[in-house]
Amino acid sequence: MDSRDVEADLSKVLITEAEIHAKIAELARRIEADYAGQDLLLVGVLKGAVMVMADLARELHLPVSMDWMAVSSYGNSTQSSGVVRILKDLDSELEGRTVLIVEDIIDSGLTLSWLLANLRSRGPASVEVCALLRKPDAATIQLDVRYVGFDIPNEFVVGYGLDYAEKYRNLKDIGVLAPHMYS
Ligand code: XMP
Ligand code: MG
Repeated sequence: MDSRDVEADLSKVLITEAEIHAKIAELARRIEADYAGQDLLLVGVLKGAVMVMADLARELHLPVSMDWMAVSSYGNSTQSSGVVRILKDLDSELEGRTVLIVEDIIDSGLTLSWLLANLRSRGPASVEVCALLRKPDAATIQLDVRYVGFDIPNEFVVGYGLDYAEKYRNLKDIGVLAPHMYS
């Protein structure tokens, strides 16, 4: 982590930049093996997945297209309700496409399960999910996530695309926000 003031806002670094990049390379090798010879459409979920998308896409030796969706969950902001509103839809048609959703983090899994159903209803050849992080609650609902980077404890994390009130997305590491930052 670079030595700036924001470092003091974290209580600990959970995953270092080097660990993130090693994991993304590992995921990319699996994805290349599974999708050899196919044209893949990567669908990134804004804004958190921007960093994962940028690094994963460059690591993949496959022909890929990239598209983006922005969604927001209705209801209170700290817990996902599972009812999702599309803020920005895809530019691409999904009919017959091979789709891989790229996500930063799966917490309750409600957002992702809505997104999977939504994208699958558009007639793609397949839709799978690659998420860099997964929290323990995600295991409690039936969710088919083919590629997971790290299973992490149930703590609020920031960095590498993940924010608290739109800050910290530019940190290179992923860390736990110190409790005093929430006040
Ligand atoms: P669900 O619960 O539907 O929601 O899986 C996933 C979304 O919730 C946000 N989220 C977080 N964002 N640090 C963050 O910066 C976290 O620890 C965290 N946990 C959940 C995130 O937007 C994710 O897409
Ligand atoms: Mg997200």
